[in-house]
Amino acid sequence: MATRIRRGPPAPWLLGSGLACMRNEQVIVRDVNFTVHRGSAVLLTGPNASGKSSFLRLLCGFLKPSAGRLFWDGNDLSQPGLYDLYRPQVHLIAAKDAIKKAMTVYENVHFWEVLEGGEGRTQWALDRMGLGPFAQEQAVVLSMGQRKRLQLARMLAVPRPLWLLDEPSVGLDVEGVEILEEIMAEHRSKGGMVFVATHVPIKLKDAMHLRLPPRTPQFRQYNAGDFV
Ligand SMILES: Nc1ncnc2c1ncn2[C@@H]1O[C@H](COP(=O)(O)OP(=O)(O)OP(=O)(O)O)[C@@H](O)[C@H]1O
Ligand SMILES: [Mg+2]
Repeated sequence: MATRIRRGPPAPWLLGSGLACMRNEQVIVRDVNFTVHRGSAVLLTGPNASGKSSFLRLLCGFLKPSAGRLFWDGNDLSQPGLYDLYRPQVHLIAAKDAIKKAMTVYENVHFWEVLEGGEGRTQWALDRMGLGPFAQEQAVVLSMGQRKRLQLARMLAVPRPLWLLDEPSVGLDVEGVEILEEIMAEHRSKGGMVFVATHVPIKLKDAMHLRLPPRTPQFRQYNAGDFV
């Protein structure tokens, strides 16, 4: 008789267990738990300074958890060398956009695409974000909302499964927000995942909601040289 192999449910793509994050020697976020499966989304909310941006930086590997664990496909990310494999799976879209003003809009996306070993998605990504007609403009002339669209075009040009979006709708007009909602839905329909920190409502079907509590300031004595 053939042996039947029992398989459990697949491990989440990303699992956070008891996560905490420190900044400036203070605990900013504590005891956060979540799971992210292929195609899912997490909505991250909370008052100013509750730690949303810090938490996204932790999820992309720029900050290390001060407590708790992150598991990627069942593997503990604290194992040596694993972060190096994990980071290229993740896009972080944050307030700092790293747009090269002296380059054209096209070049801003294309150099990033080529750097990441891709080719052929730049014009499509610009068109998808409504920037096609501006492709040959210098990036320096872009408005705030157009810069945000350019950031998102760069993300589209380099496919990665997990998108970490820190207030992605800031600066976007109504049409821009609709495009953002569409690209997130399309990404998820192909098995991608999104983690969105936002203060404003955004369409994110069946998202898990993670709400960070307000942060109570902890008294700390500062010295004259601390901020030099
Ligand atoms: N680079 C940094 N160095 C030290 N502390 C920082 C740094 N960035 C943020 N913090 C601290 O971390 C706390 C959380 O900040 P964070 O930006 O993560 O909050 P947030 O929830 O994203 O806020 P907002 O809604 O205003 O964007 C703040 O109190 C801030 O003092
Ligand atoms: Mg923030």
